[in-house]
Amino acid sequence: MGKDVIIACDFPSGAQTLEFLDRFQGRKPFVKIGMELFYAEGPAIVRQIKERGHRIFLDLKLHDIPNTVKKAMAVLSNLDVDICNLHAAGAAEMMRAALEGLTRPDGTRPLLIAVTQLTSTNQETLENELLIREQMEQVVLSYAENAKKAGLDGVVCSPLEAERVHSVCGAEFLTVTPGVRFADGEKGDQKRVMTPAQAKAIGSDYIVVGRPITAAPDPVAAYERCCAEFIG
Ligand code: C5P
Repeated sequence: MGKDVIIACDFPSGAQTLEFLDRFQGRKPFVKIGMELFYAEGPAIVRQIKERGHRIFLDLKLHDIPNTVKKAMAVLSNLDVDICNLHAAGAAEMMRAALEGLTRPDGTRPLLIAVTQLTSTNQETLENELLIREQMEQVVLSYAENAKKAGLDGVVCSPLEAERVHSVCGAEFLTVTPGVRFADGEKGDQKRVMTPAQAKAIGSDYIVVGRPITAAPDPVAAYERCCAEFIG
């Protein structure tokens, strides 16, 4: 898989999601399904979107004991999604178990990427609540390295971290980056943002874009603009 734009389908219902995707006519954007939609609609919505021909990043961020994550990943793999994720904080044994669970009898599997530290966690929370004394950047890079050593395919990270992750983990290690905004667009609640063109320049492999597309007056035009800027 090469560079692509993934639309974050943060809608509360399957009906709204399918109505949104109907606008794209012949085009089949890569979509991200998160907890809200998955918990509302269950695996059926994944199957429906897959049947329509979209690739799917199922963003459920698993984090549990290795055996539980392995079994859950086997279920997600059967849904034929393209990318799954977990928290690197679950540690190496959990990440290796996840890979085992994801691998189908024919040896194929969805890509597996790790969340390092949530962008909602700041240095203060890291130190005072999680009791991690290192600098955030060091923690992110070190968790990315752990994910790589465990055999994962990449990480979700801020576009601002993508370059460092690639330099530490190699160009092949995927960086999937949210926090993307058009130069002339609303930032909303995202604080550290990049344009699609900047994300391309710093080497993001996939950008995850929600509201700049989903809340645009013309979502298809916004998606196409995003692809033109990011993929070229
Ligand atoms: O609407 P917006 O473009 O901000 O959506 C970004 C998507 O990426 C949302 O689904 C959000 O939950 C997700 N995300 C994020 N920052 C992270 C991880 C995920 O914005 N660090």
